[in-house]
Amino acid sequence: MDVYDFPTPMVLIDIARVRKNLEKYFSMAKKFGKKIWPMVKTHKFSYIARIQCEYGADGFTVGTLDEAEVLVEKKIAKTLMLGNVYVADKESLSRVLDIVEQGVRVVLRIDNLEVAAFIDDQLKRYDLELDYVVKIDTGLHRFGVKPEHVVDFLSKMQRFSKLRFVGVVTHPGHVYSVKTPQEVEVVAREVSKTMGRVVSELSRKGFDLEIVGTGSTPTLKHDIEDPTYTHLFPGNFVYLETYLQHLLPKTL
Ligand SMILES: Cc1ncc(COP(=O)(O)O)c(C=O)c1O
Repeated sequence: MDVYDFPTPMVLIDIARVRKNLEKYFSMAKKFGKKIWPMVKTHKFSYIARIQCEYGADGFTVGTLDEAEVLVEKKIAKTLMLGNVYVADKESLSRVLDIVEQGVRVVLRIDNLEVAAFIDDQLKRYDLELDYVVKIDTGLHRFGVKPEHVVDFLSKMQRFSKLRFVGVVTHPGHVYSVKTPQEVEVVAREVSKTMGRVVSELSRKGFDLEIVGTGSTPTLKHDIEDPTYTHLFPGNFVYLETYLQHLLPKTL
């Protein structure tokens, strides 16, 4: 059968290519002592998530609670970071608690005090604690706490006894607006500088940071080599579609 014989629309995935991409980036991450918790929203396949585990993924980042539940139901994920999920209503929180009940570590991303107050209040009812990281806005301007407000934000978060601070993360999605590998590197360096400043300030104030993370495929190579980060959350890297190739360093 020729590829042109398939009915359309049809998604065809080159699994050998997927494995090649995973091998390259997971082995590089291992060399630099970094964890990759892949963003699942790119592929939404438990089949591919399982392959990612083979290469060393011991956690995943999700874009929706549906994705999280599939990874838990299929016993693929032991750790889940809720990437783009706002847990701001009782139903979402109850879905998160169901996941926790199954022995999975859930790390929330928080950038809003009202949402934090709601979650903390609900957790008190169940006498449960959850880990969270603070989302930092490093240039995308879609979500996240502004770097200069992080210390103040965290001092206000201290009143929430059921939320445990474990780190800071960012998503430099604005990198997709640049056109050359050199410009990608400039974005990666700027984001890293901002995150580095945030980390130094928080460390000076006595905060412990288990997770300092960033997530984007164009910046991935730079991020893996960057001592600022402990965790990386790329999604597209699994496919490295040709439309991204012009953004990647020539050495890849
Ligand atoms: C919050 C978050 N983290 C990570 C990623 C993964 O980035 P990329 O698609 O560049 O791999 C995305 C993708 O949009 C995202 O929204």
